[in-house]
Amino acid sequence: MNIQQQRKKRAVKILLGVIFAAIGAVALTAVYQGRGWNVPEEARQRKNPLAASGEGRRAAAAIYRDKCANCHGERGRGDGAEGRMHWPAPRDFTDAARMNVLSDGELFYKMSRGRRPMPSFDGRLGEEQRWQLVLYIRGFAGDSRGMPAPVK
Ligand code: HEC
Repeated sequence: MNIQQQRKKRAVKILLGVIFAAIGAVALTAVYQGRGWNVPEEARQRKNPLAASGEGRRAAAAIYRDKCANCHGERGRGDGAEGRMHWPAPRDFTDAARMNVLSDGELFYKMSRGRRPMPSFDGRLGEEQRWQLVLYIRGFAGDSRGMPAPVK
């Protein structure tokens, strides 16, 4: 191989390296941007029309156990059998510092829309059930806006 051929080969290698790096960067950016939920401001501002009640709590607890716990965990820690297999893992609902920065409207919007792997629940659960769930999951972090202690 003469010097010219060697140079050509090196140039091709460098070019390929640059192309692969560019593809990698684009792919990473796409994944990273896909991470955000993009909750519209209007949805974020929505207020929970429901007040906490023992009845609502029982209803939400049953739905949660049935439809959410296998991913989000019985105690809301994001450690359900299925949740552990996902990336990103479901948020730990008992982490008050993280939950406090999320508005009711935002939680409502997210559970309504879902985001893979989480299914959307707007077709599966009524509005009232979803607002009850917002109150219910706040209870995991001991939020007093959540439910009163369960009625024995
Ligand atoms: C198949 C597993 C799965 C099921 C079932 C599921 N979720 Fe999720 N959920 C997730 C995952 C994973 C995330 C995190 C997604 C992300 O950050 O991209 C999530 C995120 C959320 C969030 C957003 C929290 C945040 O980080 O901002 C809320 C609220 C939520 N889930 C509520 C519910 C409720 C309520 C139910 C039941 C009605 C439910 N989920 C059922 C997997 C699930």
